[in-house]
Amino acid sequence: MTAKRIDGKAAAQAIRDQVAMRVAEFAGQTGRPPGLATVLVGEDPASAVYVRSKNRATAEAGMVSFAHSLPDTTSEDELLQLVTDLNADGRVDGILVQLPLPAHIDSARVIETIDPAKDVDGFHPINAGRLASGLPSLVPCTPLGCLHLLKQELGDLTGLNAVVVGRSNIVGKPLAQLLLAENCTVTIAHSRTRDVSDVVRNGDVVIAAVGRAEMIRGDWIQPGATVIDVGINRVPTDDGKGRLVGDVAYDEAVAIAGAITPVPGGVGPMTIAMLMRNTLVAAHRRAGLADPEGL
Ligand SMILES: NC(=O)c1ccc[n+]([C@@H]2O[C@H](COP(=O)([O-])OP(=O)(O)OC[C@H]3O[C@@H](n4cnc5c(N)ncnc54)[C@H](OP(=O)(O)O)[C@@H]3O)[C@@H](O)[C@H]2O)c1
Repeated sequence: MTAKRIDGKAAAQAIRDQVAMRVAEFAGQTGRPPGLATVLVGEDPASAVYVRSKNRATAEAGMVSFAHSLPDTTSEDELLQLVTDLNADGRVDGILVQLPLPAHIDSARVIETIDPAKDVDGFHPINAGRLASGLPSLVPCTPLGCLHLLKQELGDLTGLNAVVVGRSNIVGKPLAQLLLAENCTVTIAHSRTRDVSDVVRNGDVVIAAVGRAEMIRGDWIQPGATVIDVGINRVPTDDGKGRLVGDVAYDEAVAIAGAITPVPGGVGPMTIAMLMRNTLVAAHRRAGLADPEGL
């Protein structure tokens, strides 16, 4: 059996098209388009690439992009002041501070300074707490993207055993909360889990968010399981360019799973699509409108 390849690029494009349609409606209703502010501190090349794609996607959706690029000598106080200014700016519906921040800045303090209503990354403790309590919140983009792909693939997730490998605040933990809310039986594995292969084998659904190239082998996967690979790892190649692989050994797993996301082209594009979606949702809520349907 060869697993179905889940096309994250196509799913992401469909969401971005829908967002663009709703952006036009929102602008018609309120007289202004939604706005997303991105804040990049320092010169990390990977972060710069991510932020550029986010700014481009914002403009493509018809939203206003406020891009702030600061030197890595920026002090914590200066960054907190910028966030406070963006909180007060009525044109800004979403604030995204690209992580990681330089070591001299306390990321937790910065995240806690963002107005939870504009926290389109969903990292503020208020949003994390609301998600865990089953209350409306802004949900981190990558987990939201994973859930979308799973529901598109499987429909109702009720009663499925879902194994999440990784417990970060950005991916593993919020994803576990989302899956619990979908009535899955959720297991979270991490670096201290005993016999992680046996735990993974119990999953009807497996989500890998570890950051270790091809750690999850094909024979860890239950035949027919749905596998979502969040990992993005660059491994060396003979030509020196390197190539991207996930946390799952794709070539092995594709022979056993029922459906699987590739890397690249799986979860990655969903993250930006969900950032656009979250910005649109934040704009609706701030304008006192109901959440846009179907997103
Ligand atoms: N596609 C996207 O848009 C997107 C977005 C975000 C992240 N990512 C990628 O997803 C991966 C995970 O990101 P993250 O931010 O969640 O990483 P992270 O904060 O480093 O967390 C990694 C998690 O994996 C666990 N882990 C490490 N080694 C393990 C092992 N041998 N067995 C089981 N669990 C193990 C860690 O356990 P402990 O808690 O015990 O240390 C931790 O909970 C990375 O490759 C990242 O690049 C992709």
